[in-house]
This record gives sequence, C-alpha cells and structure tokens, in this order.
Amino acid sequence: MDSRLEDILKWFKDSRGNITVLTGAGISAESGIPTFRGKDGYWTVGSKEYHPQEMATFRMFKLRPYDVWQWYLYRKTVCARAKPNSGHFALVELENIFMERFCLITQNVDGLHLRAGNTTERTYQIHGNINFMRCSRECSDEIFPVPPEIPPQDKTSRISEEEKRLLVCPHCGALSRPHVLWFDECYNEKYFRFDSSIRKAKETDLLLVVGTSGATNLPMQVGSLVVRKGGAIIDINPEINPFSGMAERVKNGYHYQGSSGEILPEIVDFLKA
Ligand code: OAD
Repeated sequence: MDSRLEDILKWFKDSRGNITVLTGAGISAESGIPTFRGKDGYWTVGSKEYHPQEMATFRMFKLRPYDVWQWYLYRKTVCARAKPNSGHFALVELENIFMERFCLITQNVDGLHLRAGNTTERTYQIHGNINFMRCSRECSDEIFPVPPEIPPQDKTSRISEEEKRLLVCPHCGALSRPHVLWFDECYNEKYFRFDSSIRKAKETDLLLVVGTSGATNLPMQVGSLVVRKGGAIIDINPEINPFSGMAERVKNGYHYQGSSGEILPEIVDFLKA
C-alpha cells in the first residue's frame, strides 16, 4: 500500500472519527453487473428502442408500464444471479469494526451490500432497491418485495397476464412500480434517506468513495460537504472522476487508481491492525 494512503488511514484511526462509504456501480462490476456508463453500460443492453435515460422515468412508466417492468425484472434477474465480491465483504467488516461510526451510502439498486451482510440500519440505498416495489399511486409509503412467484426473466421474456396480476399494490390493487429513483424524480427522506445522508456527510471525517462516476446530485453534495468540513477523502476508481478531483483539493486526500475488490480488503486489514 502506498505510504500516502497509509498516512491518511493512520490519521483516521487516531482521530476516532466517523467514516462514510459512498458506493456506485463500480463496486459491483467485479460481481459481473455492468456499470451504467461503462462500455457495457447496463441500460443500453437489450434496449434498442429507448435510451436508458428515457426508459428509467416515471413518464415512460405511465406510457408503457409493462415495458418498464419487463426491463426491471430482467435487471433484477441479473442482480439475483450475481454474488457479492471481496469489496462488498470488506465493507461488512468495516461496519463491524466501526459500528455507529460507520455509514454506507449506496447508489446501487442491486442489493449486494445487504446480501453481503451490511445492516439496513446503516446502509442508505439512495436510489432504491430493485428487489422491491411500491404502489404507483402512493396509497401508502409501504414497500413490498417483488413477488417471488415471478420467475427469472431474460431479455426476450414478456410479462404474462398472471404476472401482471401479481404486480399490483397489495393494499389497493393499483399497479405497483419498481422501488427505484427515476431520472424525472427527486430524492426524499422517506424512500431514499436524503436528509439522513446530508446529516451523515456533515459528520464525516473520512469519506471513502468507491466506483462512482459522480453523475448524480446527492453523492456530489455529500462529497462537497466533506470537502467543506475539511474531512479526508479516499477515492477508489480506475478512472479520473469528480471525486478524485475533490481528493486532490483536501489536505488528506488520495485517489487509488485501481479496482475496489483489490484495495478495500487491504484498507480494512490496515484499519483493524
Ligand atoms: P457509473 O456507471 O456512472 O460509474 C461507474 C464507475 O465505476 C466509473 O467511474 C468506473 O470507472 C468505476 N469502476 C469500474 N470498475 C471498477 C472497479 N472494479 N472498482 C472501482 N471502480 C470501478 O455508475 P454510478 O456512478 O454508480 O442512478 O452511476 C450513478 C447513478 O447513475 C446510478 O445509480 C443511476 C445512474 O443514473 C439512478 O438510477 C437514479
């Protein structure tokens, strides 16, 4: 491990401060889930008619609900077949070491952090979770698992009438929708823990950013708040991105230009030694 990275980790260990981990699609890339904006961009696969940014909208859901559902059910199948990798497991260890001083803010809807063993209490899924659905008419705030009776779907599957009957709100019978944040929707606390994330950012002494291109609003706000507070930032990403720029600007900053599955276990070993 580079001595600059060691110095920051040692400083953090001695400070007894709070650590926040912000993850994006890059941490799940080594589990075989394509990233959003990489060359195998997840939303371009099998999407010939629509651009992903057009598909993942409430507007499209209103126009073509079952096409949108079909696409999410296929993606849910890909996520269900993937397994958490060494990066995910390292973050479970990190939570076990730091407990209430640890928070995980993830943009990933794949649910792999929870499957690896991070707790729902300390994992803020700020873009939702593909394994859940809710009422499209918001008759309540309740979130339900996507019915397990719906079988795995491939790119060419079509939702059957029986499956359509399962994709309804268990309370009012209206059509359900995937529990994810769409491009034409806003963050909020009740579904996406917006306020909690902002609060955690303000209390963060070390921000570990893992595998995100910095294209969304809340993660960028989290980074900016940590910069403003004078906290440390370690960015793990093979590519230059806005967070590596932030890491350059703070006193204790470091950009590890490589894969998360490689360096996260090393970071955890160092912190627990
Ligand atoms: P992106 O696909 O935009 O970025 C993935 C990042 O992971 C890139 O910067 C890659 O360089 C990096 N990466 C790839 N392999 C990696 C590895 N092995 N280790 C570490 N980093 C690696 O995905 P996100 O930034 O997560 O939002 O995208 C953010 C949001 O944009 C998504 O959650 C989604 C989309 O709009 C919503 O659905 C609301």
